[in-house]
Amino acid sequence: MKPLFFDSHTHVQFVAFKDDHEEVIRRALDKGVWLNNVGSQKETSEKAVMIAEDHEKGVYATVGFHPIHAEAAEKEDLEESVSKSEEFDYDFFCRLAQNPKVVAIGECGLDYFHLKNAAKDKQKEIFLAQIKLAEETSKPLMVHCRDAYPDLIEILRSERSRLLPDRPGISHFFTGSLQDAETLLKMGFSFSFGGAITFAGNYDEVLRRIPLDRLLLETDAPYVAPVPFRGQRNEPSFVVHVAEHIAKVKSLSLEEVARETTKNALRIFAI
Ligand code: NI
Repeated sequence: MKPLFFDSHTHVQFVAFKDDHEEVIRRALDKGVWLNNVGSQKETSEKAVMIAEDHEKGVYATVGFHPIHAEAAEKEDLEESVSKSEEFDYDFFCRLAQNPKVVAIGECGLDYFHLKNAAKDKQKEIFLAQIKLAEETSKPLMVHCRDAYPDLIEILRSERSRLLPDRPGISHFFTGSLQDAETLLKMGFSFSFGGAITFAGNYDEVLRRIPLDRLLLETDAPYVAPVPFRGQRNEPSFVVHVAEHIAKVKSLSLEEVARETTKNALRIFAI
């Protein structure tokens, strides 16, 4: 059976779901929602793969190193019981990425919003290593970027030859300018959007600009639930509300948005 929707970026392996991740996944699969659990460090990447292996179909994993973990975090967060910095371990991720359930490398990229110290160089170095990993494993990138699109685009441009020509990657929760979007589109990237678009009107213009064959749905659960669940813990089955908003903004039917974004996810993840 083909999925109806694809939550292309979620984190059901995070500690927010420690007591009920199987029920959450079951709720999604029962509604025809397939999902990709995205890692942020060693532990969350490994957990994502383990959960994917528990399911014959419909649950996939992305392994990699989120830029905010290039330095020690100040706060506890929903990923781990205690958020921690760690060194990027290329061989570890390379081994993990060999698993057939691993569909992309990330989330990787640059995040200057959360930057406390002079960690830009370290973030860039770790991003470059993950681009190399994507090349070595022939997988697309799952890109995270905040307040750093010019530097991100410069790196992707210079490393373009290492990326898959037909499916270089996904810019997850895109928050750049229209011009950044155009540049990434020309380079072959796709874009995923989540709950924020259902309550923050400033995404409508970029949603109209990005063609449907480059759009994907995500929840980024447990974060940023869509209307009407705003403020609650997010989960993959809520992704239908993201699709509804895209349908409204692009004047398309929900069925068309669901069908095309699912097709895009299956293509990019080579499922
Ligand atoms: Ni995420």
